[in-house]
Amino acid sequence: MDYEERITAAELGEGEARHELSLRPQTLQEYIGQKTATDNLKVFIEAAKLRGEPLDHVLFYGPPGLGKTTLAGIIANEMGVDIRITSGPAIERAGDLAAILTNLNENDVLFIDEIHRLNRSVEEVLYSAMEDFALDIIIGKGPSARSIRLDIARFTLIGATTRAGSLSAPLRDRFGVNCKFEMYTKDELAQIIGRTAGLLGVTADEKSIDEMARRSRGTPRIANRLLKRVRDFSQVKGDGNIDIGITREALNALGVDYMGLEHLDREILKTIIERFDGGPVGIDTIAASIGEERVTIEDVYEPYLIQAGFLHRTQKGRVVSKLAYQHLGIDCDDDEEEQITINISD
Ligand code: ADE
Repeated sequence: MDYEERITAAELGEGEARHELSLRPQTLQEYIGQKTATDNLKVFIEAAKLRGEPLDHVLFYGPPGLGKTTLAGIIANEMGVDIRITSGPAIERAGDLAAILTNLNENDVLFIDEIHRLNRSVEEVLYSAMEDFALDIIIGKGPSARSIRLDIARFTLIGATTRAGSLSAPLRDRFGVNCKFEMYTKDELAQIIGRTAGLLGVTADEKSIDEMARRSRGTPRIANRLLKRVRDFSQVKGDGNIDIGITREALNALGVDYMGLEHLDREILKTIIERFDGGPVGIDTIAASIGEERVTIEDVYEPYLIQAGFLHRTQKGRVVSKLAYQHLGIDCDDDEEEQITINISD
């Protein structure tokens, strides 16, 4: 099964975006988690509104599915302005960006997802737009070419990226506010699942909600997706109410184990253990061994494997932890060696 088809894929699937929009919180009050970011943003939004100015440009970074687009929508809503949503790869030429920027109204929000994937010529147009709210346009070609400056509305750029390190320094420096998105705790995910269940009109008991939260890899998008699939099982195989029995049956049938790991997560860990003696092994070697792209492993699989303590990133490469051996039910040689050493020295 490839990454797009996984039940726990954190990217939005086709047709999922519109439905997810209706479940999204609209205000900071409703938004659960990311407390440091939201507490600060509350202050910056209020101050910008008091001054009648746009909010300073904001950079969101962190793994996919943690609510960056949702929070951008909330910022626009709290500022009382419109939001235009696009992404780095969708803006192919400088002219595409100029068309978007000239259509913004005063204080509007422009959200650019995957901003690290903007091409260089587009990025350069963004510099003067962000700094001076102006576009430098070249008219003509060759020796007679000249540049004119076009003023645009004062706006807020919200850029989102899964890899802040891939952003060029000039672009990174033009953001006044930086927000790092953290993975959600089990309690926060349980609150989100409870809220979504209420919006979907489905009843789920506390134990089931906790079980779904634990298997959601710290990610609200996955939590909501698991809830919808468990709801399907409860309607077809149960009485429509979600209880712990139907939750476990559904999640097991979906191949999501009790820690939220799926086939490919286990495959990554197993490959490092069985082919590379537990590591250290380089990310490119792992990618080639399991037939996945390096960036997909880095951006999608690794963050949770690291956060949950299954994998460590070292200078020499990736190393699996004892927890990974335990989780997969594989004997850990390290333990045996330790045991022998202890026995001998005893
Ligand atoms: N749905 C998805 N993410 C959410 C969040 N952070 N708070 C509330 N509901 C959500």
